[in-house]
Order: sequence, then C-alpha cells, then structure tokens
Amino acid sequence: MKISKIQVKNKNTNYPIFIGNEAISLLGKQIKKLCPKTKKVGLILDKKIPSKYKSKIKKQIKNYEIYVYEYLPSEKLKSFTKANNLIEDLLKKNFNRSDVIIAAGGGIIGDFAGFVSSILKRGVNFINLPSTLLAQVDSSIGGKTGVNSEKGKNLIGSFYQPTAVISDVGLLKSLSKRNLVCGFAEILKHSLIHDRSFFKSLNKNSKNILEKMNFETIKNVITKSCKIKIYFVNKDEKEKSKRMILNFGHTFAHGIEAANNYSRRINHGEAVLIGMILATRLSFRKKICSYTTLNTIENLYKTNNLPKNLKDFFSKKDLKKIVNFMAIDKKNYDNKINLILLKRIGKTTVPGSFKISLKEMKNVLEKIS
Ligand SMILES: NC(=O)c1ccc[n+]([C@@H]2O[C@H](COP(=O)([O-])OP(=O)(O)OC[C@H]3O[C@@H](n4cnc5c(N)ncnc54)[C@H](O)[C@@H]3O)[C@@H](O)[C@H]2O)c1
Repeated sequence: MKISKIQVKNKNTNYPIFIGNEAISLLGKQIKKLCPKTKKVGLILDKKIPSKYKSKIKKQIKNYEIYVYEYLPSEKLKSFTKANNLIEDLLKKNFNRSDVIIAAGGGIIGDFAGFVSSILKRGVNFINLPSTLLAQVDSSIGGKTGVNSEKGKNLIGSFYQPTAVISDVGLLKSLSKRNLVCGFAEILKHSLIHDRSFFKSLNKNSKNILEKMNFETIKNVITKSCKIKIYFVNKDEKEKSKRMILNFGHTFAHGIEAANNYSRRINHGEAVLIGMILATRLSFRKKICSYTTLNTIENLYKTNNLPKNLKDFFSKKDLKKIVNFMAIDKKNYDNKINLILLKRIGKTTVPGSFKISLKEMKNVLEKIS
C-alpha cells in the first residue's frame, strides 16, 4: 500500500499528513526534517495501542532523550488538572520549544497532548500519530486542542496546528468494531455536509469498511475525509463561520455526552451518529430537507446497525438535561441554540441561519428522539 501525503497549507500553517500502512516508519525522518533541534521527546501514549506499535514508535525516536507518559484514556483525562500535572513534569525535565511532544492515541490523547503542547512554553513542536479511525479522519486535523470543564466538553482549549500528522492505518487492526463505527460517524458527516458522491460511495462500501475492514478502501476514505475537513479548516481556521458546518450533529452530541456524564455507555462517535440523525429529522420537520434525504440516511443507519434513537439510551425526563447542555455549547451566542441542519445530502444550512429556542427544542426532541 502506497503512503499518501496531503500538505495542509494556509496563511498560518503548513504541515504534512501521511496516511498508509507502516506510515509510522516515517516518524524518525520527519522529526529530523521538521524539528532538527530536537533533543527531548515526550511520548504521550494510549495504553491500548498494541505493544508491537509502541516498540515501532520507540525505535523511530531512539536517538533522543525519551520521556514516556502512558494513559488509559477517558474523558476524565481531558482535564485542566491532568494537563497541568503533565506540564509541570515536562518543565521539570527542562523541555524546550525546539523539543517535540508526540501523541500516539485516539482523539482523547491527541486533544490532551495537543493542548499541553500549545501552552507549554507558549508552544512546543507537536506530532500526532492518531491511532483510532476517528482521530485519523477528524480530531488530528484542524488544530483544535482542549480539555473538558465541569460546565461542558472541550470548553477549555486552543487552536494549535501540529508539526506533522502520521496516520498508520495498520494501527486500526486492533480497534474494536465500536470504535471503528465512531470513526465512520465523522466520515459520514464529511460526506453529508459536503460531497454527495462520497456519500454514495460510502453507502455502497459501508460493509467493506465496517465488517470486512478492507484496508485499501479504509485508506481511501480516510484520505477523502481528511481533504474535506481541511477544505473547511482552510476556509475558516478559527471557526468564525464556515468551519461551523463541521459541527453538523455535534451540538446534539455534546448535549448527549454531557447528559451521559461522559461515560463509556455512549462514546463521542455514537453521540455524533445520534446527533446527525436528530439534526436530519429536525431538518425534515422544518421542511429544510426532503423525506427522500431523511429516508436515504435512515436506511444507511439501519443497514449498518448504527445507533440512532435517543430513547434507546435516555428516558423522557433526561431530554430536558440534554437540551440544557446543548444551550451551554460554545457556539451559542444568545439564548437560542444554534444548529447546522441539512438541506440535502452534500449541502447544509448556512452557519448562524437556524436557531431554535430551548422550549421548542425540548418539545421537538420528544418527537424526534
Ligand atoms: N480536536 C478535534 O477536532 C476533535 C474532533 C473530534 C473528536 N474529538 C475528540 O476526540 C475524542 C474521541 O476520540 P476517539 O473516538 O479516538 O476516542 P478515544 O481516544 O477514547 O479512543 C477510543 C478507544 O480506543 C482505544 N484505542 C486507541 N487506539 C487504539 C488502537 N490502535 N487499538 C486498540 N484500541 C485503541 C483507546 O484506548 C480508547 O479506549 C473525544 O474527546 C472528542 O471530543 C476532537
């Protein structure tokens, strides 16, 4: 399998993304090329990465002073206190801006390590080795880093672009089906918001991805998905307008995750899947999309047994809690909830054009959940 390279380039950033089997073998060379003054490497590892890969990573950085921090990720790791503990330790080791922090893990490790890299001495080199499908298609790109607050998810953070992203698709072999589905959620989102023909090909190939785990197909959808995310990030890096389209389904998802107390009962990707179908059902109710659009998407969910009904996870009385958390989401600037809805497959509403009051949202949620 050939390793593909995408160069992310805009007025503020310029970094490569490598995608393919054994892409990890590029790590040593990339550090030499992109961070030539590196002496120390802080390796922030996800405990669940197979030891074979941990050894491969360590082999690539064997010429540097290595400090390994291993975590079993949960949303609780994404906390200011945990980030501060790591920062204090790295400072004790006299980490400098010219040194490198490497994250090898899913979105949790990536968000956490990226955040630490962005504030340690006002920014040290950060290389991301995303190890879940979700991280390879979404969280490793675009520069959003952060931790959670008691008030909600990802409310403390920064925009900080990585020095390089290396997505080794071989890492996905050990991923559970549940986590594969979570990555599929973000891939599906990218097709729904921007590319009808990509959606058609995903619809055709969904079993190939989720059941047969065909790695050539997976590599191609990762590459396509990254390009769509980069398109939106390049248009609006700091999320003032166009980038908000990437939040399709996510305001619901953040409400769901918070109401679920960030427990593993529903993880981020599953919340996004439910959020996207709720946003589409609402789009249909508001006559923004057609029944055919809704039905096509519902059928894809049914065929692949994707989570779609809020009522399978929550009772009626929890719905109010979800809506209240949705209202805290950082993309809401007044008392209303700002949502991205779907016009048709491949096209959403314009950011800021659809708002709904908390009261109406509570009523509607009962009907569409
Ligand atoms: N920064 C962004 O733009 C952005 C975008 C989307 C999501 N996110 C964040 O990403 C997080 C979710 O990321 P995620 O879905 O990757 O979850 P995760 O980081 O929790 O990883 C999922 C599970 O897979 C395990 N794992 C990781 N790599 C593995 C491997 N190769 N083999 C076997 N198991 C492995 C992890 O230990 C974990 O149990 C959320 O916190 C979400 O807010 C951030």
